[in-house]
Amino acid sequence: SEAQLANVGVIGMAVMGSNLARNLARNGHRVAVYNRTTAKTDAVIAEHGHEGDFRPAAELADFVASLERPRRIIIMVKAGAGTDATIDSLLPLLDEGDIVVDGGNAFFEDTRRREEKLRGLGFHFVGAGISGGEVGALEGPSIMPGGSAESYEALGPILESISAKVDGEPCCTYIGTDGAGHFVKMVHNGIEYADMQFIGEAYELLKALGLSHEEMADTFAAWNEGDLDSYLIEITSEVLRKVDPATGGPLVEVIVDAAGMKGTGTWTVQSALELGTPVNTIAESVFARAISSSPELRRAAQAALHGPAGTIGVEDRARFLDQIRQALWASKVVAYAQGLDEIRMAADEYGWDINVGEVAKIWRGGCIIRAKLLERIRSEYAAGQLTTLLEAPSVAAGLADAQDAWRTVVAEAVRGGVPVPGFSAALAHYDQARAPRLNAALTQGLRDYFGAHTYRRVDREGTFHVNWSTDG
Ligand code: NAP
Ligand code: ATR
Repeated sequence: SEAQLANVGVIGMAVMGSNLARNLARNGHRVAVYNRTTAKTDAVIAEHGHEGDFRPAAELADFVASLERPRRIIIMVKAGAGTDATIDSLLPLLDEGDIVVDGGNAFFEDTRRREEKLRGLGFHFVGAGISGGEVGALEGPSIMPGGSAESYEALGPILESISAKVDGEPCCTYIGTDGAGHFVKMVHNGIEYADMQFIGEAYELLKALGLSHEEMADTFAAWNEGDLDSYLIEITSEVLRKVDPATGGPLVEVIVDAAGMKGTGTWTVQSALELGTPVNTIAESVFARAISSSPELRRAAQAALHGPAGTIGVEDRARFLDQIRQALWASKVVAYAQGLDEIRMAADEYGWDINVGEVAKIWRGGCIIRAKLLERIRSEYAAGQLTTLLEAPSVAAGLADAQDAWRTVVAEAVRGGVPVPGFSAALAHYDQARAPRLNAALTQGLRDYFGAHTYRRVDREGTFHVNWSTDG
């Protein structure tokens, strides 16, 4: 009978999919599961079958047949070709109104393409950003679903039941149509890049001051008690405290200083370039990983270039430590503001009705960037219409309080030869955004000079061009 059919299905029994299926089963759902390679399904059921009501299938047709209608199918396979192959094999088996969810890390333009195709065939396609890695998938991720509002009515309660909860509220909300969910997930990752870059800069500054790793770990742990309270600051303390059994020294110092990336930070910047929205903190974070992973450039430059040794001497070390904390907080605020600005710009461009405050709300739990700051962001967006987070009263006041410290830290770092591209990009954004006039006036003059690109005037309407060498 219908009651006995599964109410949700998961395709892909690798780490993310199996953990998501277990999370669903633990929350009382009847979960159909399928994986291209059946041995993987068998292994998951052998190990975790007792945790809940799983309905394993070796054939995709049996998987589909085991689901009540409209079917709710979550695809959790390797993004890209894996997702397309899975969708193609599903299509002949679906019925009108069925809901296909892609929970992988898809590029939002791929999601837009897939959604349009499936909509044309009478199905719902939901691109759901799922954040929080494998632990989040099992214990409660932050979920960012995009697609038709109608499909969210059938799907939302299930996703909300397995998401992280903060103050009793699910870290899952309907984001907007087609690619909106995956776009928001992408920006989440871009912010994550910036967050980690700022933390890296703070770590280098603490090192430049001569702190031991134990002292650095204690410093981050103390910071985690205040405004910086966040998952990433918390684990930074643990990473810095870790001793390498082989050398007896700090583990972090034997890790090769070349950061990897899977590409979502790059996507965030590429999309921002296309939208024309300034995200210099995220861009600097991507470039910082790029230079770290450029061994030839670094070798050549290390041999040729000279400068300060990367140490900082200050009279009042405790005071400077607190200034670093403030620079880190202020920079973090700018990165969140830039990411949310990018979401707002994209919403205008793609016709998504995104509630930015709700985005901040569902990032408060389950995901890598969960942080105390997000509660303030949520409440500021709830309190009034904001063009940018930076104008929110408590945020503007906090930045005003922090800015002396922020400028001191950037200045001392520059003097000492400690690279702080994130802190200084954030500060440049702050100063650019608040400036009554920008040097763009001169840029327009130059463009008109060499290319007759014209300019506008502050005192009258219209576009103007002069012959710069003869006119006047
Ligand atoms: P994965 O390693 O990205 O993918 C493996 C799964 O994809 C297996 O089930 C595999 O089936 C299937 N697959 C690959 N190519 C396929 C194809 N052509 N046709 C059908 N199935 C195919 O798995 P994952 O790490 O669990 O990640 C799943 C998704 O979640 C990805 O989009 C990933 O980006 C995203 N994600 C991952 C994390 C993370 O921390 N790992 C966090 C958030 C989101 P077989 O067993 O048959 O090979
Ligand atoms: P989350 O939403 O939890 O942040 P994510 O977007 O998949 O999950 O990425 C979390 C971290 O895991 C990132 O550091 C990501 O790499 P990048 O920083 O280069 O983007 C990493 N990550 C994601 N998928 C991965 C995979 N399949 N293998 C290894 N690392 C992965």
